[in-house]
Amino acid sequence: MAELLRLHDPAAATEMADAEAASCDHPWSSGMYADSLTGQDQVYAYRDANGQVLGYAVLLIILDEAQLQNIFICQPCQRQGHGRRLLQQLMHSAASQGAVRMLLEVRESNHAARALYAGCGFVESGLRKHYYRNDHGPREHAVLMEAML
Ligand SMILES: CC(C)(COP(=O)(O)OP(=O)(O)OC[C@H]1O[C@@H](n2cnc3c(N)ncnc32)[C@H](O)[C@@H]1OP(=O)(O)O)[C@@H](O)C(=O)NCCC(=O)NCCS
Repeated sequence: MAELLRLHDPAAATEMADAEAASCDHPWSSGMYADSLTGQDQVYAYRDANGQVLGYAVLLIILDEAQLQNIFICQPCQRQGHGRRLLQQLMHSAASQGAVRMLLEVRESNHAARALYAGCGFVESGLRKHYYRNDHGPREHAVLMEAML
């Protein structure tokens, strides 16, 4: 069974950014990951039983509220159920740390992620208009979603 490994070393930032750039249209920069690794965020690698990294996630817990800052599965490992299991483990971990609710925001066009979240019990709770910048084309709305833990 795959497991969460908490990361603290900012040296992991480049590997995370490279893995996300190969897996996702709008990746975080290594600087963003470095900030997360040295700040209040909880940064996790999701590894299989052989230690192979399947994906990564960034969570922020403030009092009884958890914010899912980022989640991705490495491109070759996508569509095998890892994303759902990673999110379920994160929800469980957040609940065990005292969070009662998890919040997130997702690009309106990211149908894969929105389906993943809906399948894990998240409901849409709002829209942040023109929130995300796009390299080409107009800005994109953020869909706000939340789930009780
Ligand atoms: C979103 C993401 C994490 C899903 O991870 P995954 O391991 O591929 O997803 P799973 O195999 O666990 O699938 C779980 C559910 O997600 C949805 N889903 C996943 N990929 C999908 C796709 N390409 N198209 C439509 N739905 C999809 C489905 O509802 C799926 O359930 P199903 O298999 O019963 O149909 C992955 O696609 C990813 O890393 N994307 C790039 C990064 C990203 O967009 N992160 C979210 C930022 S808000």
